[in-house]
Amino acid sequence: MTELLEVKGLTKSFGLMQAVNGINLSIAEGSCVALLGPNGAGKTTTIRMLTGLLKPTAGSIIFQHLKKGEDPKTLLGYLPQSPAFHPWMSGYEYMVYAGELCGLRGSEAKKRAKELMERVGLGNAAKRRIGGYSGGMKQRLGLAQALVHRPKLLILDEPVSALDPIGRREVLHLLQELKKETSVLFSTHVLHDAEELCDDVVIISKGSIALQGSLASIRHEHRKPMIELSFEADPKSLAWSEAFRRRVNLLREDASMQLPPIETVEKHGDELRIIVNNIDAARQFLLEEMTKERLKINKLSIGHSSLEDLFMKVVGQ
Ligand SMILES: Nc1ncnc2c1ncn2[C@@H]1O[C@H](COP(=O)(O)OP(=O)(O)OP(=O)(O)O)[C@@H](O)[C@H]1O
Ligand SMILES: [Mg+2]
Repeated sequence: MTELLEVKGLTKSFGLMQAVNGINLSIAEGSCVALLGPNGAGKTTTIRMLTGLLKPTAGSIIFQHLKKGEDPKTLLGYLPQSPAFHPWMSGYEYMVYAGELCGLRGSEAKKRAKELMERVGLGNAAKRRIGGYSGGMKQRLGLAQALVHRPKLLILDEPVSALDPIGRREVLHLLQELKKETSVLFSTHVLHDAEELCDDVVIISKGSIALQGSLASIRHEHRKPMIELSFEADPKSLAWSEAFRRRVNLLREDASMQLPPIETVEKHGDELRIIVNNIDAARQFLLEEMTKERLKINKLSIGHSSLEDLFMKVVGQ
């Protein structure tokens, strides 16, 4: 696959605040990449540097397809996190205006506006004022605007985060279609959106990349066997589960201690999630311990840690 974009050591400081701290990433032609991270991770700052709206403090952004002297903006379509529209314009008028701003002549801009309004499912609403559009319709109009000059890469900053479930579905459905035609980089703080749309993910936390790669390989590499355990709400069981969690974590800190076949123990509500390295040995160990203590087990189930567990761990939440 040919690279479309290559970013090296991208850094942005606002005074003493380091918002983005040495990010390296590349986007291959035809790929869909999710930039995933919690609030304040540096997604918008990264995207604004890629689009040329913000000057990096350090680092390089190289667009492979750019001819000498050509503006990177000609390759990019951009939908900001909070796009602003003139509410009194109709969707169609706005699209003609966006086309003319990109250098299309009057008749061309009109033709492209009509075509794109149909493409994003707003054909019937083209003559209505944008002020009366739903959130999902506005985002679809924003996408149409980003596509006006047939960009090679669509950069979308949280395109579905502010939408209700219906608007979210509409926009994700449209993006499923658009990603067949153009490369896409989109940011989100919701892992599920990344999983639904993208093959590759770049997880950022506090301005740095915490994990990156294809979702399939990340899922495969980081999948760990896990035992979920819950008890009846009697004081003895609750006290044991808290003491057990502390004991495992303390043992882990002391390298000289003999560890049970258990890696980590986390409490999620009433449940213990126990990451283990050997299911059989861990199950045996737990059953013996719980029988000895006469604990009232409600549930013991065997499974695997999910991508959600990993995401929460790498972003430290
Ligand atoms: N112009 C600015 N001046 C000072 N600090 C800024 C500026 N822009 C962003 N920051 C800080 O940089 C950090 C990263 O912000 P950014 O908006 O890139 O995060 P984000 O991942 O897009 O978050 P969100 O999910 O809330 O949109 C934050 O701590 C933010 O407060
Ligand atoms: Mg943001």
